[in-house]
Amino acid sequence: MLQSAAFILAVLLARFAPFSLTPLSFSLLVGVFAAAFSHLAGQARWWVPIQFIFAPAQVTMLTLEVPPTLYLVIFLVLLVVYWSTFRTQVPLYLSSNKVWQALETLLPAPATGGGAGFRFMDIGSGIGGVLAHLARVRPDGEYHGVEIAPLPFLWSWLRLRLKPNCRVRWGSLWDCDLSHHDVVFAYLSPVPMAELWEKARREMKPGSLFISNTFAVPEFPPQKTVQVDDLHHSLLYIWRM
Ligand SMILES: C[S@@+](CC[C@H](N)C(=O)[O-])C[C@H]1O[C@@H](n2cnc3c(N)ncnc32)[C@H](O)[C@@H]1O
Repeated sequence: MLQSAAFILAVLLARFAPFSLTPLSFSLLVGVFAAAFSHLAGQARWWVPIQFIFAPAQVTMLTLEVPPTLYLVIFLVLLVVYWSTFRTQVPLYLSSNKVWQALETLLPAPATGGGAGFRFMDIGSGIGGVLAHLARVRPDGEYHGVEIAPLPFLWSWLRLRLKPNCRVRWGSLWDCDLSHHDVVFAYLSPVPMAELWEKARREMKPGSLFISNTFAVPEFPPQKTVQVDDLHHSLLYIWRM
């Protein structure tokens, strides 16, 4: 809508301009208006350069005469990878190997006498890296994942299908019952954390662990944090329920 409004304003201005604009200068005008509208509409700061670059990028790419099917293919690939990110506000990015190793140390101790192991859940399990690693190093656990985006889900399902103690399903974390798990791990974004915390508090059993990679819960400080020595200096927030 902001882009359309910027386009209409630029058309009106161009009609009354005493000189004609080239497609690129017209698109720059659209970009300036779109960036200004973005700012006025109170969008997050990082939207402003995106809104500015959108029309000039379109004009520039048109001059390259790329076959339109390529755009369609790229769009479809992005769609199956990111799916409903526009709604969930949680894109796909992956925990580092060092986070996987830190998680190892937080799992419940192996049961003595060969008793039942623990249940671990990765909500928003991406391509299943966390689950695959933990299932390999701690085969005494049962690992579950839920993933909403089709391609990451398919990828994780393919890589985990032969592991008897791993299960991933395609769906939303909001439809999962967290009450059967001893450890629930989340690596999401700041947006769902307050609501997720309420869900965890409602459903998780006493003594179980809720671990969030990087994203804290507003107003509810964790009992423990673990600093991970990876590229992003990831911080694990840990709550015992
Ligand atoms: C930041 S990635 C983390 C991937 C993996 N857990 C890891 O640590 O490497 C977050 C994932 O959550 C998924 N996701 C976002 N919202 C979701 C929802 N409501 N239900 C299930 N998965 C969701 C995204 O598609 C994305 O793959």
